[in-house]
Amino acid sequence: MNDTQITEKLRAAGQLQLLRFYDELDDREKQSLKDQIIQTDFSYLSRFSSKDNPASRGVITPLKAMTLSEIACRQAEYEEAGLKALASGRIAAVCLAGGMGTRLGFDGPKGCFDIGITHPVYIFQRLIENLMLRVKSCGRWIWLFFMTSENNDEATRAFLEEHKYFGYDPSYIRFFRQEMAPAVGEDGQVLLETKSRIAVSPNGNGGWFRSMQSAGFISLLQEQGVDFLNVFAVDNVLQNICDPVFIGAVLDSGCASGSKVVRKNSPDERVGAMCLEDGRTSVIEYYEMSEAMRHETGPDGERLYNFGVTLNYLFRIPDLVKAADDKLPVHFAHKKIECVDEEGNRVMPDQPNGWKFEYFIFDILHILDGCLPFEIERNKEFAPIKNASGTDSPDSARELCRMNGIIL
Ligand code: UD1
Repeated sequence: MNDTQITEKLRAAGQLQLLRFYDELDDREKQSLKDQIIQTDFSYLSRFSSKDNPASRGVITPLKAMTLSEIACRQAEYEEAGLKALASGRIAAVCLAGGMGTRLGFDGPKGCFDIGITHPVYIFQRLIENLMLRVKSCGRWIWLFFMTSENNDEATRAFLEEHKYFGYDPSYIRFFRQEMAPAVGEDGQVLLETKSRIAVSPNGNGGWFRSMQSAGFISLLQEQGVDFLNVFAVDNVLQNICDPVFIGAVLDSGCASGSKVVRKNSPDERVGAMCLEDGRTSVIEYYEMSEAMRHETGPDGERLYNFGVTLNYLFRIPDLVKAADDKLPVHFAHKKIECVDEEGNRVMPDQPNGWKFEYFIFDILHILDGCLPFEIERNKEFAPIKNASGTDSPDSARELCRMNGIIL
């Protein structure tokens, strides 16, 4: 793209203000800003105008999960089918590790956080050790992908290399970066983080498939006969990855996807709940649910929206490929965004001053044909680390590890 085309791209997006300080920049800074403009997808902005009027949700109704007791009845059968699929190389694992981990307050990729007590035990190590159990039981290496972002890609790669991938065969590990989305101020204009850099942030965990596809990994996997992806969050140290029982149950269901869910520990637990939206699988986040909805019960006395997603999904690749052109909704988050003002002075806001754009992974469920919500035992498989202390913190995760005999 030459200079005229770059200016044209900005003009078309209504973002010429990004060149406000251009004449003050040195040659290196000019080039870096131009490169960033070329890479930036401004199409997020066209969906932003409706932010004050968020598209209303469809009709939300409850969705039942396959419960622990139902699973127990067919456990052996599911496990056998899942192990067979793993042993024939049909399943790959994808760790979503592109988030910023702001709530934890740890200055590095979340997976590098050490939860050890007597010796170092890193989050990445816990995840890899869990996947190694599968490798042992199915007798072959399983492809393991890490989605990183511009903010943590180098640090993630360097950390895993330094720790020799915690014993995993590196020839079965690949990394891909998620895309960054521009951040806008209250007026919808893209912000400059510095005079020569656009303010951007990772485009949410729902961007994983497009990024993985652009990196060429989806076609590579398809050529190798992989047809399912187990996609999971980096932050759960009891994450049961490539669980054969889950895989077997999803294969048996014929659904295009599966989602590991827990019975919520209270109506207010901060997890998204599985539901139907206009008759199709969906997830409603805790902050979208009314008080009445959180407490509503069915004839059996169980809360109707009681199955929370743990962010461990199984997706059938051909269905993802088919659905790829369908547009996922863009979510807007009101955030504090460091930027420069019109005079070029640094602004470190203490109140939200703009908007970030994100895709959410669970919106993919709504597009695909069918999802099996599969209940798991929360004390055995769900130890998320989100906050620095209290609920879903390193301390709560350590306690759950202890209960599961994991020495820290
Ligand atoms: C997430 C789920 C929520 C679920 C809960 C379970 C989403 C949008 N929310 O909430 O439904 O009940 O986990 O613990 O799925 N990530 C990226 N790139 C990004 C943003 C996030 O890779 O741009 C990754 C993070 O590294 C992490 C995961 O996605 O592994 C979840 O991150 P976060 O956005 O913090 O969602 P939660 O609020 O934890």
